[in-house]
Amino acid sequence: MLSVKDAVVRYGAITALHGVSFEVNQGEVVTLLGANGAGKSTTLRMLSGLHAPTSGTITFDGDDITNVKAHMFSSMGISHVPEGRRIFPEMTVQENLEMGAYGRKDNYVGDMERMYSLFPILKERRKQLGGNLSGGEQQMLAIGRALMSQPRLLLLDEPSMGLAPMIIDQIFRIIGEIRDGGTTVLVVEQNAAHALRLADRGYVMENGVIAFSDTSEKLLHDPRVRAVYLGEAVE
Ligand SMILES: Nc1ncnc2c1ncn2[C@@H]1O[C@H](COP(=O)(O)OP(=O)(O)OP(=O)(O)O)[C@@H](O)[C@H]1O
Ligand SMILES: [Mg+2]
Repeated sequence: MLSVKDAVVRYGAITALHGVSFEVNQGEVVTLLGANGAGKSTTLRMLSGLHAPTSGTITFDGDDITNVKAHMFSSMGISHVPEGRRIFPEMTVQENLEMGAYGRKDNYVGDMERMYSLFPILKERRKQLGGNLSGGEQQMLAIGRALMSQPRLLLLDEPSMGLAPMIIDQIFRIIGEIRDGGTTVLVVEQNAAHALRLADRGYVMENGVIAFSDTSEKLLHDPRVRAVYLGEAVE
């Protein structure tokens, strides 16, 4: 579905991605792991048109999308939940979800109901301002808003960041439901234990390149992953 080949991304004099290559197949959850500064968020920003690569290619459903602009991505079927969530704090939950459907010409009422059944807490809070939600609720709202554009590929940047373990479990369970509903997911995480339990495959980034990759099962038992990313987290 998605194929990235030898992508190089620069911020002025700084090269953040030094030739990144990976693939995501339809129906998978794929996770991108790596330490701070490895280039994970840059990779997702590149995949939503916010930083075009200076060389390399990106193909999506067979089309070359390397130089497609950011505003085209949602209509192409790619939706990005950035680091830090960025919901609209002065809008209600319901208005935030409606913003996610911006540009859709069909009737999206059914999708609103689908979001409320995926995230029942959002239904209870639908008239509250986004800014008054807890961190976990804001993450759910950010994911729900991204789903309102009916993406075929959902990009999630550290959905577990700053959340309590119970809420993280809940968010990952919902990401599994989203995959089961037919949406392919690429999720960036520092919480490798959670991400690998859900994902089919993982890529480990170091210093702007993919250092290695494997099935989640193999990565969970890989000494390099256990030492650096899991500590004692895996039984
Ligand atoms: N706007 C920017 N201008 C200059 N350098 C940047 C910019 N954004 C990121 N970088 C640099 O690019 C590299 C990759 O950053 P990126 O945010 O992609 O890492 P990350 O893997 O998402 O890290 P984290 O886990 O901390 O979120 C880092 O060295 C970072 O300092
Ligand atoms: Mg990041």
